[in-house]
Amino acid sequence: MSETQTTKGILDIDKIRSHFPVLHQQVNGKPLVYFDNAATSQKPKVVIETINDYYEGYNANIHRGIHTLAEKATKAFEESRKTIKSFINANETEEIIFTKGTTEGINLVASSYGRKNLSEGDEIIISGLEHHSNIVPWQIVAEEKGATIKVIPVLADGTLDMEAYKSLLTDKTKIVAVNHASNSLGTINPVKEIIDAAHGVGAKVLIDGAQAAAHLPIDVQALDCDFYAISAHKVYGPTGTGALYGKRTLLEAMPPYQGGGEMIKHVSFEKTTYNDIPYKFEAGTPNIGDVIGFQKAIEFVNEVGKASMAAYESELLNYATEKVAKIQDMQLIGTAKKKVSVLSFVIEGIHPFDIGQMLDARGVAVRTGHHCTEPLMDRFGIEGTVRASFAVYNTKEEIDSMVDGLNRIVRFMK
Ligand code: ALA
Repeated sequence: MSETQTTKGILDIDKIRSHFPVLHQQVNGKPLVYFDNAATSQKPKVVIETINDYYEGYNANIHRGIHTLAEKATKAFEESRKTIKSFINANETEEIIFTKGTTEGINLVASSYGRKNLSEGDEIIISGLEHHSNIVPWQIVAEEKGATIKVIPVLADGTLDMEAYKSLLTDKTKIVAVNHASNSLGTINPVKEIIDAAHGVGAKVLIDGAQAAAHLPIDVQALDCDFYAISAHKVYGPTGTGALYGKRTLLEAMPPYQGGGEMIKHVSFEKTTYNDIPYKFEAGTPNIGDVIGFQKAIEFVNEVGKASMAAYESELLNYATEKVAKIQDMQLIGTAKKKVSVLSFVIEGIHPFDIGQMLDARGVAVRTGHHCTEPLMDRFGIEGTVRASFAVYNTKEEIDSMVDGLNRIVRFMK
């Protein structure tokens, strides 16, 4: 049994909370309630200490050095790659490329695969639920190559219109890029169905897994996706690192994304030859300490158990949804049956920003605004929402505290 479970085999949330130093503080004179996990999750001590140990004990550059510290750092860095390979069930470690995060992973694919494979008249399909990071990189490459972007419409409950998706697919479709779960609404997309349909017309599929990685099982082989991008910082890991999965055959055929050290085999002024994957896509000194910390974050998730986490977070989401729905003039945005633990809402007549500020005054941290999904906000005819997103260390008492705050805000403002 895991150390974070009670003798009855259920999660011991007090024990889990004890791993997160940042949670134990007062904000504006009230105990912190951190509900901004979709933006970034907090980090367990083991991640913080691992990064500290690297800088205090064996800080060195990797792959190039033959001295003891360099060998130790290289080993830890490459061990992290193996852990991430298992975390998403890739076939080979070489298919895991370290990036700055999901955004860089998507930019890498758009820039390298997109530039090489798109031509005038080709089509890229994205969805109306996408974060700007899964819109703008495609707009850049589409403009350059004369390709067109088509958008899967979003239905009133925040799910994708799958009939419309299928009618958008043609032999002109070269790339489909969608998220596994929506950052703004929490909707879990039917990615397997999306991938299979795209493959039916010969298109390649990139899945933005930023919001899925901490909540959903990920099996890139079972999904048969061509690319899958994640960030460490949304999975209890550090900021500034993440991973891109790509199928070996695709990665090998793709040109480099950035030039520099590490990504080459030989350089001369006449001709440079490139390194094998994954190093071909890892130019320059990477974020070594944080990549090593990323491994510990995934080990933490594995230790607690992702399925237990997801079940508990779903319980929190249901509890919060039921309570929040009862608040006066409340409109929930995104009511899909299958959601990760994201609750987005607006209260008629009160600006989301004001709600966010007044909740902060009570120690409750939520996100307000368009959440980097302006087209999605336009779809619902709103400027933005208040978003509460839950992680495994959150509690029903914290939800009560937010709901109490919201009721007081409504009474005060109306
Ligand atoms: N993409 C992050 C969010 O949804 C920053 O908040």
